[in-house]
Parts: sequence; C-alpha cells; structure tokens
Amino acid sequence: KTVDWEADEYERGLHEHFMMKEIHEQPDAVGRALRGRLDERFHTVHLGGLNMDAREAREIKRVKILGCGSAYYAGQMGAQFIEEVARIPADAEPASEFRYRNPVVERDTLYIAVSQSGETLDTLVAVQELKRKGGRVIGLVNAVGSSIARAVDGGVYLHAGPEVSVASTKALTNMAVAFAMLGIHLGRIRDVSPADGRRLIEGLKKLPEHIQSIVDQEEELAKIAGQLAKHESLFFVGRTRGYPVAREGAQKLKEISYRHAEAYQTSELKHGPLALISPDVPSVAIVPQDELLDRNIGALHEIAARSGPLYVVTHPGVDIPDGVAAKIVVPKNEPELDPILLTIPLQILAYYAAVALGHDVDKPRNLAKSVTVE
Ligand code: G6P
Repeated sequence: KTVDWEADEYERGLHEHFMMKEIHEQPDAVGRALRGRLDERFHTVHLGGLNMDAREAREIKRVKILGCGSAYYAGQMGAQFIEEVARIPADAEPASEFRYRNPVVERDTLYIAVSQSGETLDTLVAVQELKRKGGRVIGLVNAVGSSIARAVDGGVYLHAGPEVSVASTKALTNMAVAFAMLGIHLGRIRDVSPADGRRLIEGLKKLPEHIQSIVDQEEELAKIAGQLAKHESLFFVGRTRGYPVAREGAQKLKEISYRHAEAYQTSELKHGPLALISPDVPSVAIVPQDELLDRNIGALHEIAARSGPLYVVTHPGVDIPDGVAAKIVVPKNEPELDPILLTIPLQILAYYAAVALGHDVDKPRNLAKSVTVE
C-alpha cells in the first residue's frame, strides 16, 4: 500500500467510494450554502457577492444560464425556478454550444455561468466571449478563486466542499439551492410577496432534513438499483419541473453504469418513443404531487399498457397504479423546490446500479472530473 492510497482511504471515511461519501454529505453541504444568507425579516435572501444593486437587478429582462454536463441540468432547474418565481424569462444552454454559435449578447440579460470546478474550458470561454461583448455575467461556482470565479462580474459560491467523484452529486444539489436563493432574491426585488418569500425560505430550511430522510432509504434503493441494472436500456421521464430531474438521473446512470438511459418529457412520449416501451425497457418516472399529477398518472397507465416496467419517484399519498416495479417516496416540500429532492434517489440508484455491475464508481471510463482542454 502506498501512502497516497491510505490518504485516499482516510478521506473516504466509512464509504467505499467518494461518490457515496458525497451523497451522504448533502444535508451538511446544503446547510452551508444557506448559512448566513436567509433574511427572515424581509423574507428574502442576501447574496453578498452579486455586485448588483436592486435598481440594476430590476432592469434584467432575461436570464441565460450556461454550464456543461450536470451543471447544465442544474441550470435547467435554475431557469425554471427563476422564471416561475421571479417571473423573468429564463433558459439554460450548454456552454459548449453557446461559445461556438456567435450568440446575440443583450445588455439587459443576466448571464449566469454554473460550474463545480470553475475550470471547465467550454464554460470559461463562454464567459470570456460574453465579457468581450459587454455582457453582465455572474458565476455559480464551487471552487473558490477558480478561473471562472475570477472572470465573472460577481457570483454566488456554492459551499459544497471539495467534490472528488467524477459523477457530481452535492455540487449539483447546491447549484439548485443557489439558483433557488438567487430566484428568491430577484423575485423579492420585484413582485414576489413577503408571504411567498417566507414560504420558500421555510422550504429551503427543511431541505437538509428532507435530504437526510432520502439518504436513509439507501438499503431499499440499493435493491431497486439491482433490478434496474439488469436492463440494457432505460427511459427516465418527467415533465416541466421533473424534466431536468429525469435528464440528470439518466446522465448519472450513463456515466457510471454504462447503461443506455434516455431522458424524455413525459408529455412527448406519445409523440414517438412510446414505440420503444416493452418489458425490456423500464421507465423511471418522476411523478411529483403537483398540478400535473393526473396527466402524469395517465402516462403511467400508457406505459403499463405496453408492459413497460415502472419505477416511480413520487410524494407521500400519491396513488400510483398497482403493479409498478417500485415506488420511491421523497418528502414533499414547496413545489418549486421539489426538483432538488426528486434528484437525490436517482443519484443513489445510479450508484448502486454501477456497483451491482462491478464498475469503479469513482473512475468511470472515458470521463474526467473537469474538462479543461479542447
Ligand atoms: C465534466 C464532468 C461532469 C461535469 C462537467 C461540468 O464533463 O464529467 O460530471 O458535470 O464536467 O463540470 P463543472 O466543473 O464545470 O461543473
């Protein structure tokens, strides 16, 4: 044994892999992200590093979020939160695409670069291109003092702590939490009421405890993952708030278990991929207790009618059709914050699917923790 290996073992603590250690660290990581930022007097969130006063914040007409891989999916969650809560049109795009397409840069758009490492070249070049054209860019970055953190006009540090596993878990969760805080901040400068501000802040405060209760289901989730791992090809389906969750869940499974996983909008299934549903192709369905519940349940029936095995991630009290392969229940929070909790069981499923298949979870083939070269 080398000294390095012992150091590695020491750092992982009781866990066999960094990925599982980092999954377990999420309640603390989220607690750190929230610390000192929630204002319970004015029911808003203070983000000291934004470098943007209230008047400037009111002038934002649009939000454009840029990131790669899981940071891009977190960006999709963030775009939905900001648009829904702050009522500013928002969308996310892979930074790797944006940097090559000569984008129109607008002065009243707020550009947001998202990155765990702060060193992803595609994201960094997108930031540099935006700055060159006079765009206002803020960063949502984990690594303090990293290249992206230094290049932006201001930002929000994620405070997730060091993330070693190639498959991102706690950084993605903290990205989604940081977007929620930013959305509340921007919303309270605009038209979000004190009551809604308070409701969302109370929801944020419950996240660490809610995440812990999902991590506590590890044993049960490991069994379900063993079933999933038997299939060569899987669907992850969700709609609106559940869609980025499905994309992130499929990505995690691909990255470490090398199974083919495809994310799809539940609403779009009937326009094509329903043709692929069969007993060999299971669907992991994101079914939150929200205004689209009836439609999501309808989709479950359509999948079941084609004998597609169903693994449903849902909320307490939701009536799921009989005969599903598994029902995974996460705590109900405020609807806008649901994606954060719905993602956690998918991390654990991907982890145990990879373990069941005998893969080295922390060193997936062909992947690097951060891609800093062309
Ligand atoms: C790499 C990793 C992904 C990660 C992406 C963005 O491709 O394999 O897991 O999501 O980079 O990394 P960043 O450090 O910018 O968040």
